[in-house]
Amino acid sequence: MNEKNKSQSNKFRFIGLIAIVALVTVLVTALLMNIAERKYEGQKPYVRLVEVGENDTDPAKWGVNWPKQYDSYKRTAITTRTQFGGHGGSEALPEEKIDRDPWLKRMFQGYAFSIDYRDRRGHAYMLDDQEQTKRLTKPQTGACLNCHVSIMPIYRDLGNGDAMLGYEKAHKFSYQELSAKLHESGHAHTVTCSDCHDPATMQLRVTRPPFIKSIAELAASDAPVPAIPSIERWRQNNMNIPYNPNKDSTRNEMRSFVCAQCHVEYYCSSKMPLTLPWSKGLKAEDLEKFWNDTRFPDGKRFFDYVQKETGAEILKAQHPEFELWSQGVHARSGVSCADCHMPYMRDGATKISDHWVRSPLLNVDRACQTCHHLPEKEILERVQVIQKRNYELMQRGGVAIEAMLDAIVALKKAGVSETDLAPVLELQRKAQWRLDYIAAENSMGFHAPQEAARILAEGIDYARQGQAMAATLTKKPVDISNQTPSPKQ
Ligand code: HEC
Ligand code: HEC
Ligand code: HEC
Ligand code: HEC
Ligand code: HEC
Repeated sequence: MNEKNKSQSNKFRFIGLIAIVALVTVLVTALLMNIAERKYEGQKPYVRLVEVGENDTDPAKWGVNWPKQYDSYKRTAITTRTQFGGHGGSEALPEEKIDRDPWLKRMFQGYAFSIDYRDRRGHAYMLDDQEQTKRLTKPQTGACLNCHVSIMPIYRDLGNGDAMLGYEKAHKFSYQELSAKLHESGHAHTVTCSDCHDPATMQLRVTRPPFIKSIAELAASDAPVPAIPSIERWRQNNMNIPYNPNKDSTRNEMRSFVCAQCHVEYYCSSKMPLTLPWSKGLKAEDLEKFWNDTRFPDGKRFFDYVQKETGAEILKAQHPEFELWSQGVHARSGVSCADCHMPYMRDGATKISDHWVRSPLLNVDRACQTCHHLPEKEILERVQVIQKRNYELMQRGGVAIEAMLDAIVALKKAGVSETDLAPVLELQRKAQWRLDYIAAENSMGFHAPQEAARILAEGIDYARQGQAMAATLTKKPVDISNQTPSPKQ
């Protein structure tokens, strides 16, 4: 090939290349435009007919703009039932947990939970059920309302516009005082749209001051939090400004954070502002350490109540769904609360989130089969195996706790010194915390099966250690006559 021919063929090759690049560009642009359009459709499937703002706590008003979400939200009033969950119902109050499991009632002797402690039900009932519980026959604080009502306007009011300040004052009001304020103000609605959505943009957001405060404390600790990658990123970059979930987290994390405003362990009394115990990490023993290191204003070590039979200072666990979820494989794989409890449903060309928050077992096709390509029956069986194992281990825990309580009562009858009794009561505190933690968590072990089993096993071990120590001090052999649960359920 001579020089001229060579440059000629290079020229053709160059033109050819330009043509190909141009064609590819056109195709890619067309594809991107199509995707963008679809995304836009997906994001803006509504027309704003009415303006909504921070003080619009009535969900019906929001329902004018977003009727599909509002319709599904209202369905939380419908009766549902599964074997271990979903006790929603409009007919009557749900079943008493303390009647079903008498060892629970015994553990709670000396505390309002031994009077009335029921199954949960749908979000539509959260205020009614709180107002009706016989636990209110004992003095309770206004801070109880934090998780049972659209409280934000009240907090802003108490804090002269500053909700954080308002929250810090709320615990000093009695339940009845703050409840009266709430009903007068017209904000007596259950969890509402503005609790999870910014009214201007509809983006997810968190509003509850204790959550915002405590997740920042968790971030500032050095506890590993693999389930919340934005905290790990924040730790590497800007530790001088507190972690702000509304700025620093991902959209996917927000799909769990909105629920973690309430489905968490807490302490709520007139003695201090509502507290979430996360500054040492999210595992059961991190929470326990937080409480053990907490002092009341009078300097005494923290406890929820004194167990009546033994005098032990006990920690009561409350629905640690967020904490247990954070220790499981779903959280680790980025599967959020909303993925299972608010799955997408088709609405013409768009997808909307099902606001009928309920047991995902009533919804396996949308809640699980999007990821698990298994028949529904198979998925339900897997859940049942997990829950049944958890249930049986928990019942063993109940037997162990009662054996320990019997042994401590016998020890006290035998007349033991305070000094000898103290380490036994410490074991009771540890055992009850662990058993109660899994009993109070609402997934019957599903949110993190291995972690739940670990916590129960530790609880059983501490209960038996307590029993053995009490028997030794009483100078009686350990009573092994009643060691297995009677078959039930
Ligand atoms: C991988 C799916 C999945 C994820 C993620 C998940 N859950 Fe669940 N959750 C379940 C299943 C399954 C149950 C058991 C339901 C039953 O027994 O009917 C359950 C039970 C519950 C219950 C009790 C439900 C009832 O009907 O009584 C609550 C409350 C709950 N989860 C809250 C949460 C919160 C809060 C999060 C996030 C921190 C979360 N869940 C994350 C699947 C999930
Ligand atoms: C941090 C949030 C939070 C606070 C604070 C809170 N609750 Fe709840 N409450 C929940 C959640 C979540 C449930 C549903 C899960 C469950 O029942 O375990 C619930 C369930 C209940 C129920 C129905 C089931 C039962 O236990 O009988 C009653 C009644 C109740 N709460 C009363 C109270 C009272 C009284 C207070 C104040 C001492 C209070 N709550 C404070 C979050 C909270
Ligand atoms: C403002 C506090 C609050 C928020 C936020 C909240 N919950 Fe609840 N949730 C409650 C309370 C309180 C109950 C118990 C109501 C009752 O028993 O009357 C409850 C009950 C439930 C139940 C039981 C339903 C049934 O039919 O038995 C599920 C499941 C649940 N919540 C999941 C979630 C999920 C998932 C999120 C986040 C998308 C969430 N919750 C956000 C307070 C809250
Ligand atoms: C407990 C928290 C919570 C409450 C209360 C809540 N939402 Fe949502 N909402 C969510 C979550 C989670 C999503 C999914 C958002 C995402 O993934 O970006 C969502 C999504 C939406 C979207 C976007 C489209 C879609 O369906 O995914 C709209 C619109 C919406 N909600 C309207 C409402 C309205 C109206 C109310 C009150 C009637 C309401 N929401 C109450 C948690 C909540
Ligand atoms: C967004 C995706 C996603 C959704 C939705 C989802 N899962 Fe999973 N699931 C996973 C991933 C990822 C794992 C980790 C193991 C793996 O890689 O297969 C897993 C693991 C499991 C396991 C075994 C691990 C364990 O904890 O014992 C079970 C059982 C399970 N899922 C059940 C369910 C059920 C039931 C639902 C619906 C309520 C559900 N999953 C919803 C993604 C999902």
